[in-house]
Amino acid sequence: MVGLIFDSLRDPGTPVTGQRQVPGAATAARAPAPVPGREAGTVRFESVSKTYRSAAGPVQALDRVDLAIPAGAIFGIIGRSGAGKSSLLRTVNRLEAPSSGRVLVDGAPIDALDTDGLVALRRRIGMIFQHFNLLAAKTVRQNVALPLTVAGVPRRAIGPRVAEALRLVGLEDKADTYPSRLSGGQKQRVGIARALVSDPEILLCDEATSALDPETTLAILDLLRDINRRLGITIILITHEMSVIREICSDVVVLEGGRVVETGPVWRVFGAPEHPTTRALLEPLTRGLPPDLAARLQPLPAPGGWAILRITCSGRAAPDLSGLAGAGAPVRLLQAGIERIQGHAVGRMLVAVPAEDPGAEARLRAVGDVERVGYVPADAAVG
Ligand SMILES: Nc1ncnc2c1ncn2[C@@H]1O[C@H](COP(=O)(O)OP(=O)(O)O)[C@@H](O)[C@H]1O
Ligand SMILES: [Mg+2]
Repeated sequence: MVGLIFDSLRDPGTPVTGQRQVPGAATAARAPAPVPGREAGTVRFESVSKTYRSAAGPVQALDRVDLAIPAGAIFGIIGRSGAGKSSLLRTVNRLEAPSSGRVLVDGAPIDALDTDGLVALRRRIGMIFQHFNLLAAKTVRQNVALPLTVAGVPRRAIGPRVAEALRLVGLEDKADTYPSRLSGGQKQRVGIARALVSDPEILLCDEATSALDPETTLAILDLLRDINRRLGITIILITHEMSVIREICSDVVVLEGGRVVETGPVWRVFGAPEHPTTRALLEPLTRGLPPDLAARLQPLPAPGGWAILRITCSGRAAPDLSGLAGAGAPVRLLQAGIERIQGHAVGRMLVAVPAEDPGAEARLRAVGDVERVGYVPADAAVG
């Protein structure tokens, strides 16, 4: 029974065909990579609502959320503070019970589980937190061993699994250290090792990198991506950092007032956000108008002036600029940024064209979606 997640680590290409056995826990087959139609590692929310009773009256945190998270995804949950992100995440391991609707994990509803069933469920779902939640009086090794100790796993089986988990997160040499001696990044690695030691199928992360500096954040994201790829673990993560979503998520859902307002692959949602909430959340990522242009912007064209157009690109192919070059009329590039996200070109360009050039907008549509931002007079910095 030793090995568990680490079997698939040694040989990521070969599905683990046997049943995993943890004393007192349900067993489940495990595949190391996303497999279409695979149920292990999937989460489905069916019309999930949650109303809290508080002294100030009822608070509806979730409102009929329907959502399917495929096995092996890195699924991001974003939304403003109070949108219901944590409430949604906590229904997956039943730290919160929905007021109505149901949650299915591995294709099976979890609402009717008895205490034993709940213990088994939570063993299949690891969780990490913003503030790590480590026990200060216990060593790294003891912290990581805790889920197994609590589950009554025999001591001789615990040692090797803790060692493997620590190796996975690169902390073998810190086993006997106390948390107070660790950096934030190291503490979160301990949190991740503790979450993985029970060989979960799903890892829940609630603002797991929010307390870390940008460099450490990137290192932790690399680790999470690695865990997802090598172990095939579905990762569901909440973050307020849009760069985190862009960095590692395959899919994203946007919550607002407890409702799903937008969801889809990251390249599509971030490349062409449709809902105002999504656009607002993405504002820090998308460069707005330069202040000098914004100050001169007018709603109507002036003679000899310029039209300011925003071109949004999102698609497999890199934007084709040949139409611009051959146009004959001037096209001034004011600001541009194209990135590749999951194999798709995603970006924005801000250009100026003569306000009287009637064909400019049509030509620019060959590059991407075109939005007329406004006009600036001829004497502006544009030219
Ligand atoms: N235990 C609780 N009791 C009462 N209200 C709560 C409780 N937990 C969360 N809420 C409320 O539910 C709403 C959603 O909270 P939460 O899921 O934590 O949002 P988020 O994680 O997106 O910030 C908020 O209005 C919050 O104040
Ligand atoms: Mg929260």
